[in-house]
Amino acid sequence: MKKRKTILDIGLMKQQQDKISVLTAYDYPFAQLMDSVGIDIILVGDSVGSVFSGYDNTLPVTVEEMLYHTRAVVRGSQQALIVTDMPFMSYQIDLPDARKNAGRLIKEGGAQAVKLEGGEHMAATIRAIVDIDIPVMGHIGLTPQSIHRMGGFKVQGREEEQARRILADAKAVEDAGAFAVVLEGIPRNLAKAVTAALSIPTIGIGAGADCDGQVLVIHDILGLCDKYSPKFVKRYADISATISSGIEQYIKEVKAGDFPTTDHSFK
Ligand code: KIV
Repeated sequence: MKKRKTILDIGLMKQQQDKISVLTAYDYPFAQLMDSVGIDIILVGDSVGSVFSGYDNTLPVTVEEMLYHTRAVVRGSQQALIVTDMPFMSYQIDLPDARKNAGRLIKEGGAQAVKLEGGEHMAATIRAIVDIDIPVMGHIGLTPQSIHRMGGFKVQGREEEQARRILADAKAVEDAGAFAVVLEGIPRNLAKAVTAALSIPTIGIGAGADCDGQVLVIHDILGLCDKYSPKFVKRYADISATISSGIEQYIKEVKAGDFPTTDHSFK
């Protein structure tokens, strides 16, 4: 049995300038595959709503759904730190509700940490969860759960005032006790400044190369989701084509009576 990474290992990686690799996973096989090749953190993202469940955005995802996917990912992994997303409306109502839902994701889901979106206005919530010994990863900049306020998935922090607010958000998240923070959809120079200003690791997505680590959605990097491909995504494989051709071949052989053969039959 391998030893699972902890938030202390992740903090140390920033100090040692060792870049942190993060990918999303929502199921057992993908968790196994990425864990076996040494991913540092697996994020059970609420992006599950878009790339797995087919919703238009992450807002409909529930705590029950996150629990289901988190358990599968925990079962499929041995060495990665498992961080799971708190879905929309699972932490915004009040602090007792936020603590209860964070606690469920740890106790019933088996994750080691939770992630939630928001900066200064979520600092008290982060503090409340950290105070009951549940590690929190922050998430600022382009926060997909705020899609209706932002008017879409738009780069944040291009104007000076907005950039100042994002830096203040980052500080507030760190001061509230978060062990790391995701910086999403912000200009590279702003991400660089935030990374230099914080002692906790920054994990970038569409935030340039100067963050302490990078996160991407697994379906995006493997070409499994053609709905929308943001500029910051790099495609490392195209497994849709492989899957489609395998399924086409199966259909053809079943129709032609070429499958199953005696090799696939019992005597
Ligand atoms: O839900 C998610 O997958 C995320 C990352 C892309 C940061 O929040």
